[in-house]
Parts: sequence; C-alpha cells; structure tokens
Amino acid sequence: MKSKIGVQTELAIQHLLNNELVAIPTETVYGLAGNALNEEVVSKIFAAKNRPKFNPLILHLKDISEINKYCVNVPELAYSIANKFMPGPLTLLLKKSDVVPDIVVAGSDKVAVRIPNHPLTLKILQELPFPLAAPSANPFGYISPTSAKHVAENLGEKLSYILDGGECSIGIESTIIEIENNKIILHRKGGISKEQIEEFTRLKCIDSEIKNTIQTPGQLKSHYAPNTPLCRGSLEDFSGEIKNKKVALISFQNKNIVKENVDYYYLSENGVLEEASVNLFKTLRILDKKNYDLIIAEILPNKGLGTAINDRLDRAQFIHK
Ligand code: TXA
Ligand code: MG
Repeated sequence: MKSKIGVQTELAIQHLLNNELVAIPTETVYGLAGNALNEEVVSKIFAAKNRPKFNPLILHLKDISEINKYCVNVPELAYSIANKFMPGPLTLLLKKSDVVPDIVVAGSDKVAVRIPNHPLTLKILQELPFPLAAPSANPFGYISPTSAKHVAENLGEKLSYILDGGECSIGIESTIIEIENNKIILHRKGGISKEQIEEFTRLKCIDSEIKNTIQTPGQLKSHYAPNTPLCRGSLEDFSGEIKNKKVALISFQNKNIVKENVDYYYLSENGVLEEASVNLFKTLRILDKKNYDLIIAEILPNKGLGTAINDRLDRAQFIHK
C-alpha cells in the first residue's frame, strides 16, 4: 500500500499516537519520526531505514524548556547557545537523563537534542505527549531527502504518513556540537556555520575529527552517496578520465563556461551558499536518475555553509558501485 502524502498535522499526530512512523518536514532535511520514548517504535525506525543499531538518533523537542527533561548536567553555555540558535539547524550533544531509552542513544550516556524550525513539525511536537526520535528519512547511506516526494520515492511503503511541509529551507542536516570543559566540539558540520557559533560564543570550535574523540556515525565516510560514481575537483583534474564518458559537472555557480560532452549543473546560478545548500541533495538525486558514468563535483568556497556542503560532497564520493 502506498503511503499518503498530505499537509494534515492532525493525521500525523494520530499516526504518531498509534505508535506508527511518520515523515516530518524540518528546515534541514525530512525526518523519519516516531515516539522516542517507546522502544518498539524506535526499533521500527532503525528497521525502516536499514540503519545499524549502533548509530544513535536525534531527539526532537518542542522547546528549550524540554531540554532538562531529557538531559542532565546541562552547562550554562549550552543553554545560552540554545537560546541563540534554537529552534534552528543546530543539535546539542548532552548527558542523557534516565527517561531516554538506551536504544535511542545506542547505549551511550549522551543524547543529541534539537528543536526543528518548521511550523508544521513544531505544531506536532507541541501537541504530542512525547518527543520524536527522527533520523533523516532516507535509506541508510543514501542521499538525504529535502522534499516529501524524495521521502516517498525511497521509504513511501514503510511510513503511515508523509507530512508535506514543502522544500526544506536549509537543505543540509543540522550542525552537531558538544560542550566539554567550556570547549565546543564540532561533531558534524551543518546548517549553522562554525563562524556563527564562534562569533556568538567567542570560543573556538574544535573539529572532532582533529580532536580524534568519539565520532558520530554521521561522519562515516560513505554517506549521503548517489549510486553514480562521484569525484571531487575540477573538470581539468579529470580530463584524462572523461573521454567517451557521459559526465555531469556540479558547479557552485554559472561562470558561462561550456565544454562539449559535459552537462553542467549549478548549485546556485549566482554563487550564493544558502541557495547552494538548498539545491545540493536535490541535484544529487536528479543526477543519480540520469545514468551518468561520472559526476564531478567542484570544491566550493570553504566558509559558512560551504564547509558543510564540501563535507557532504566529500562523503558522497566514496561509494563506487
Ligand atoms: O538535521 C538533522 O539533524 C536531521 C533532521 C531530520 O533533524 N536529522 C539527522 O539525523 O540528520 P541522522 O540520524 O540522519 O543524523 C544524526 C547524526 C548521526 O550521525 C548520529 O550518529 C549522530 O547524529 N548522533 C545522534 N545521537 C548521538 C549521540 N547520542 N552520540 C553521538 N552522536 C549522535
Ligand atoms: Mg542521516
């Protein structure tokens, strides 16, 4: 049976109260949501995504006052960051309270919490008596969904309802940070830039890859990946390899350069990073349907949202099926 796509929050709430799975819109990507406090429901989320149980889920809350229900020993700095950036594309990794089932956090003593900035999903969260566990609504390892249609394409059969909140306004997952001894550790680059956090806190963010601490599985190398082989760099870098191949080039902006036998795709016609992030996953999905032999994705400016976009494109290049 095909699942329904619609805009009815009441229907979404009913299904969630019945312990079923519902896709929810957020400003970053669509989530595959269920009752976070019910272990069976959380187990169904892992199964629907084909996601390994060692990869924990983010807890989606309705507002900042909920943080101290699900987290303990929350540092003042975390609250001040939450007040500045939540609701929004930021996730805080905090010490968990006993209320959060172990399956949500994959046995860790920490839980990732976020308040999504989307009116329909905030409405649902405000009316539900529980928070929502929600990973991105894509099969494990594949490109994240930024529209209801994307969700339906891959997971439609497995969901009771897909709440259609339009195209995601940020288009890339939330930034994940942790506060440790008044230091900020950046676990995943995302919708809030490192610069924004550093400017607000006046503290340096330490990249968790550099610090070499526990890594979040979102940092797995092959992730966000199309089935078509993808390489990073410029057309010139691959000039030897593209002969007799059907090639797509993902370019940050339109520089009016045209080369025969190459199809150009611009993430942002005029080179605006916010627009590029909205178009990133959509473009990868479009290209993956076109039977290219090779996708070449140029490197974007490494600042602001550009670092998160580069991160996703880097990870997209590792699966060559
Ligand atoms: O923007 C987002 O964050 C989206 C929307 C739907 O909210 N969600 C999302 O979820 O991207 P997911 O499951 O695709 O990615 C969450 C990342 C994973 O890499 C996971 O390993 C990490 O967060 N994570 C979650 N809980 C964690 C925990 N307790 N400790 C360490 N990492 C955690
Ligand atoms: Mg994901």
